[in-house]
This record gives sequence, C-alpha cells and structure tokens, in this order.
Amino acid sequence: MSAESVGGISALPPEQLSEEDAAAELAYLAKEIAHHDALYYQKDAPDISDAAYDALRARNDALEAAFPELIRDDSPSQRVGAAPASGFAKVTHSVPMLSLDNAFSGEDVEEFVARVRRFLNLDADAEVALMAEPKIDGLSVALRYESGRFVQGATRGDGTTGENVTRNLATLADVPKRLNGEDWPEVLEVRGEVYMSKTEFQALNARQAEAGAKVFANPRNAAAGSLRQLDSTITAARNLGFFGYAWGEVSEPLGGTLQEARARLEGFGFTLNDGALYTAAKDAIAFHTDLESRRAGLDYDIDGVVYKVNRLDWVERLGQVSRSPRWAIAHKFAAERAETVLERIEIQVGRTGTLTPVAHLTPVTVGGVVVSRATLHNEDEIKRKDAREGDSVIIQRAGDVIPQVVEVIADKRPKGTKPFQFPDICPRCGSLAVREEGEVAWRCTGGLICPAQAVERLKHFVSRDAFDIEGLGGKHVEAFWIDGLIKTPGDIFRLAAHEAALKEREGWGDKSVDNLLRAIEQRRTVSLERFIYGLGIPQVGEATAKLLARTYRTLDHWREAMAQAADHDSDAYGELTDIDGVGPAMADDIIGFFAEPHNREVLDDLDELLSIEEAAAPQVSESPFTGKTVVFTGTLATMGRKEAKAKAEALGARVSGSVSKKTGYVVIGADPGSKAKKAKELGIPVLTEEEWRDMAGVD
Ligand code: IVH
Repeated sequence: MSAESVGGISALPPEQLSEEDAAAELAYLAKEIAHHDALYYQKDAPDISDAAYDALRARNDALEAAFPELIRDDSPSQRVGAAPASGFAKVTHSVPMLSLDNAFSGEDVEEFVARVRRFLNLDADAEVALMAEPKIDGLSVALRYESGRFVQGATRGDGTTGENVTRNLATLADVPKRLNGEDWPEVLEVRGEVYMSKTEFQALNARQAEAGAKVFANPRNAAAGSLRQLDSTITAARNLGFFGYAWGEVSEPLGGTLQEARARLEGFGFTLNDGALYTAAKDAIAFHTDLESRRAGLDYDIDGVVYKVNRLDWVERLGQVSRSPRWAIAHKFAAERAETVLERIEIQVGRTGTLTPVAHLTPVTVGGVVVSRATLHNEDEIKRKDAREGDSVIIQRAGDVIPQVVEVIADKRPKGTKPFQFPDICPRCGSLAVREEGEVAWRCTGGLICPAQAVERLKHFVSRDAFDIEGLGGKHVEAFWIDGLIKTPGDIFRLAAHEAALKEREGWGDKSVDNLLRAIEQRRTVSLERFIYGLGIPQVGEATAKLLARTYRTLDHWREAMAQAADHDSDAYGELTDIDGVGPAMADDIIGFFAEPHNREVLDDLDELLSIEEAAAPQVSESPFTGKTVVFTGTLATMGRKEAKAKAEALGARVSGSVSKKTGYVVIGADPGSKAKKAKELGIPVLTEEEWRDMAGVD
C-alpha cells in the first residue's frame, strides 16, 4: 500500500518504508499538523485529542530520523532553531501596551498624586487611594481569552505590535488554559509579566555553561530568550512564571476598582503578586521602603513598586499621555553600585556634534551585568567629581539607564594623576569645538564635514525606533560610510546597486546580503512618525515625532508649514508651538533643520525613494468641536486644564493657547483674562463651562 494513494499515515515502521512513501507521508504530516495547529491556536477548536496530536508529531520525528534527507522546509520540526525575530507572526494589540513613567523619590510620588488631583480637578487634600504592587523585572505579555479559553498570547513588542507566542505561553503553569468559574467576560485580555525565578536562572546558566552554550546576563534576558523560542518544548523546560497585573481589551468591566478587578482575576485562576491599598501617599511609600529591604530575599527580581489609582472611573478619565498612563507610576529602587577603576576617558561625538566624555572601566559586575563603560556626562561633571584617568570610582546602573560614574574614591588616587583636560577641538574631524554661554556641552562645529556626526546620524536613521533596518547595525553603517557606499540616508535605498560588491566583502555572504537588501526593501514604505524621528532633528524624540506626524499628516504639508513657521508671527509658528512639548527652543531646532539646504536635499532624495504613509487622523468622536480650534481660558470648576484639552482633542479639536480669527470656540472658566475679551471683539463663539460640557457630551 502506498502512503501517497491514501494520503495518510502508514502502519509500517519507518525503516520499512520506501523513500517515495516516506516523502509522501511527510508531506501529509506537515499539512496535517499545520492544520491542527491552526485549529488549536487560531480557531480555538481542536478536533483531535492531545494524544492524537502528539502521535502525529512523534511519527513526523521518527520519519525524519530515518530519512533526514527528506526533511521538508515546512516541517513542524523546522520551526526549531530558525531566527527568532522573524519566526513569529505579528499580533496587533487592540489596546496598546504602555510603559510606565518613573518616580525616583518620595517627592516624585507625592507629585504624581498631586498631578492626578489636578487633572481630575479634586481638592488638594482629596483622598486618592493607590494600589501598590511590586514591579516585576521580566517582560510583559498579553493573554487573550475568548469564552473562557486561552486563544492567543503575545509579547509587548513596540507596544502596538508584538509577536504571537501562544504556543510557548501555553506551556506556563501560571497561564490558565481555561478560566475558572463562569462569570468571565466573553473577551478578556490579561496582561502581566513573564519572569524567571532566581533559582531557575542559576540552574539554567549552570546547564548552559556545562553545555558550552550562551549564559544569560540576568533573569530578565533569560526569560525573554526562553519565551521567544520556536520550539515550545524548550520554553516548557525553562519553568517560567507569570504574574497578572493589568488588562487590555475586555468585553465588560471587571469592577469599579482595581481591588475588585484583582479579586476577579484571581478568581479566574491567575496568579497576582501581593498588592496593598493605601489612602495616603506616605503609607504607599513606606511599602516601597519595606519591599526594598526584602528585595534580596525574594526569589524573583523586582526593580521597584508600581502605584496605581484604585478607582477605575478615574483611571478612565486620566487616560494616557504619549506612551504612559496618567494613572500609574513606577517608583524605582535605588540603583545598584560597584567599585572599579577608571582606566581612560574617551570623547565621543554624537549626531548633533555634542562631545560626551565616556569612562572606560576595568570590567565589573553590577546588578548581574558586566559594565566596562560609563558616562561622565560633560565637562562640568568631570570637574565636579575631579575624575581622573587611573582613579578608583563608584559606578551605578539603574534599569536600562546607561551606567554612570557616581564618585571618585579620593583616598585611593594613585600618584601622578592629572586633572582631565577637556579638548577644544573635535577628536574626530579636528574642527573647533565650542561651548556656548549657558550650555553644558561642548559641540563640534564641523557639522556636515564631521564624519562622527554623519555616521551617528545614519546610525540613528536605521535604529530600531526609526527605520528599524534589520541587519544594518552601527558597525556596518560605519564601515559602509568609510568605503563611500552610504554617505546619505538615501544611499541606503540605493545599496542594491552594489549587490555584487557587497557579496565580496569580508564577513558578508550571499545570504546575509540578500537578507539585508530585503530588509531595506521592506522599509521603503514607512510611517511619517518613524520618518520624522529618523531625521534626528535635535530634541525631537519619538513622542514629538508622533505628535508632529499627527498634526501635519504628510511630509509635503509638514515641509510647507515649517517653511512658513520661520516667521515667528505666522499662524504656522503658532500651530507648531501649540503642539504638546514643543517649546520655542525645540521649534527653532525644527525650523532650523529645514533652513539648512543640505537637509532639504536629503528630504527631496528620500521623498523620491520612499513611500511615506500619510499619518492617520487620530480616532475622534464626531462633535461640534471636530476640526475646530478651541481655546480654554480662566479656571474650570469641574476638570483640570489638561483633562479639558485631552477631551477636546479626543473630539477632534485642536487646542490653542491664543485667540485668533481662526479660533472656533473660546471656553471660559472663572476669572477669564484678555482672551475672553478678544474673542468677543472678533465675534468668536464663547462657551461657559456648562455649555462646553453639554456640547462635549461630558456627564
Ligand atoms: S502596570 C503601563 N504593574 O513595568 C501599563 N506593570 O516599566 C500597566 N511591570 O510595561 C502596567 N510589574 O511590563 C504594571 N505590577 C506591575 C508591573 C508592571 C512590572 C512592567 C510592565 C510595564 C513596565 C514599565
């Protein structure tokens, strides 16, 4: 009997099959297993038992062992060991996964509570109950349940899109496959942290070292590496844990308070870390102090405490700003410190020409990571600490922050050291370096001729949050720059013309060049916000790039507006400085960027080479304010100025600080100033706070 004719599995042991029959059976198995994977993971409707599925996998393995030359590219076994980054399907988070703002002191926490009160327009002494929870140092994931069953698990990724790691998450004992009870929302997405215990981490590293495999720097890296495995049996063997602490999409509310929601989640079968509810910030801070003292005794890494507003109606009103919620804050623990020797001070040149002193250190382990370089910030910092080459120093690192030199141990200074002389010429291009009055940084004046600046700008352009070109790291950019292959951003998209030469380069093969060129092609279409961020305009970070993209929507429109904004009396200048976080200094940097002819050439070039996506208009609800400019003046009684602004923007309005002919409405609170008068003179509709609330649909 030929397996091919039946299209199934033969009863014969593999060694008794002909090559032809084995090939046919492997083809059948590849298709069959993929079909059951899809039923199980995507459709949530498996139609065979786990045992029957395991039998299919076992048969596939046995056949491949007997006929290794017949292993197919689409075999389920081939998902093992491929590059993790490209091996997972993408998942778009229906509710973005945010990060948290940090507080480093008790005052920062008090200020957080004060900010919450201001936003909600509460009295200065109004009670704001906070839930305090340990901040787990792992990686965040989203677990989706439909009809009480686990249907999808994803990593955070960039917050908008993550990777589908369902199969791997399903191996965690802390991830319920079915929810307990029956009162769960039809759709429930639970968010939380996947982590590796310290015990498990040490055991894993011991095994890895034994096997001559890579050891992990810390439990968080180990957890991330273990979750992003294409073979879920590896994940299963790593004993990862999961603590739930938040939720994304839910088809019905989980309660009126976080405390209630936490109890529901526990009832469904999730493990939550201990949380404690406090009505006074000072008590919440005491929880932080206590936990920090117990930190070393816990079997998992924590790096602080998260405080969250307990009332969920307030949470809803508070919303988010940029990438962080206004209703939560992470109170970090003090940084970990270590002593080492400062061997040498090197001056690095950044993309905007800033000269940054970097300390080269005798390598030392701080908080589980080996540190060999630390920043010394600037000339004044070196002087203040009197840091010299040869000194013993204390360094610290906190979270992902670049390690810093905290202080010099004066008693240990060797003889013959000299105070560090900050250079007044650029170490890379020899141009004069200057330190402007009132500034802390020395800057290279070489501008476009300075190779360091050019290379740093290109590195920024291809970096993860900008064009994100996989396979084009800093070292490659530098080498390609030196050889004249990439001098401007546009050259990256002309690299394919040098394909043959690239394949000849040392360290590059056909495959890596093909991959690189493919990665570049994929980035020919880019969002306007990534494009703007990638330009590396001084002070323009991701959050501002996003706001600029939303405001101007297309590159053409933005360029036109920036040309007009050169005139500070223009409406275009007003529109620019009305953007959250764009002050006069940043506005000047942006306008200055467009004033430079070379930058305009780069933009023309990129505009021809790329297709830059028009930024989506923010999701707005239709209202009388949609498309209008609204000015708030005077004190509102029922909401803070920021909440009013956020509300108006959610309704599609632009909020401005000044009244002009173009203003749509002026909303007047108590004690309005000259703006109310000006509105009346110009005949612009004026609303009372109540009228505004009515029209905006605030109840
Ligand atoms: S609440 C921002 N609670 O910390 C969305 N986050 O640094 C709500 N984290 O992205 C997060 N423990 O991955 C929350 N108890 C906890 C947490 C926690 C760890 C992580 C989370 C977040 C990151 C921000």
